[in-house]
Amino acid sequence: FGTVGIIGAMKEEVELLHRNVRVTGTRSKAGIEYVTGELHGKQVIFCRSGVGKVNAAVCTQVLIDQGVDCVLFTGVAGALDPGLDVGDIVISTVCQQHDMDVTALGFPRGVIPFQEQSEFAADDRLVGLAVSAGESLFPGRCRTGKVLSGDQFIASRETVRELRETMGGACVEMEGAAVAQVCAMNGVPFVIIRSMSDRADGGAPDSFEAFTIEASNRSYRLVESMIMRM
Ligand code: ADE
Repeated sequence: FGTVGIIGAMKEEVELLHRNVRVTGTRSKAGIEYVTGELHGKQVIFCRSGVGKVNAAVCTQVLIDQGVDCVLFTGVAGALDPGLDVGDIVISTVCQQHDMDVTALGFPRGVIPFQEQSEFAADDRLVGLAVSAGESLFPGRCRTGKVLSGDQFIASRETVRELRETMGGACVEMEGAAVAQVCAMNGVPFVIIRSMSDRADGGAPDSFEAFTIEASNRSYRLVESMIMRM
């Protein structure tokens, strides 16, 4: 991978990129700033997309148009799998939009009508790099799994159960599947890295407040370690 594109949605998720990337230039497109530079000798372009699938989709396309060879997403998520603790890391195997809902026309939840694919698979080599980095940085606290995305902050046990039952999924967030879909449309490899800030239940707002910085930093450390292994 020559140039690595890295996206975070919120300022906490890109804070350590700002601190650690040796910046060589910046440019703006559609109101988002793209920072070019070097991280541990590797060429990177990173940006803060803003929250949600539309922001993430636009950012991903702009990064790809700037010539990145792969896209990594770094940030936080709500755990769906009860075996995940706050701080634990999920490395995407596949991503799907949980709020794509054309069930009224008979399509299963999450299925994009009249399209071959609705689940987008992460790149095996990037997943492998992430797993190796995770095993050495956070032993026993990293796993691979399905990432569900939608334009909703999930904060109810009922919704968690429904998402797990209807779609599976290790964690839920608001950008990954959009990044994944745009990467698939362009034939660009990607992986989504998410550290758990909450359990997507009634306690999620407080947990998110309390743990977003720490979880964001754990996700960053994994991404940084991937970059050093490339
Ligand atoms: N990101 C972090 N926690 C989340 C949640 N509970 N729902 C959606 N996105 C999240």
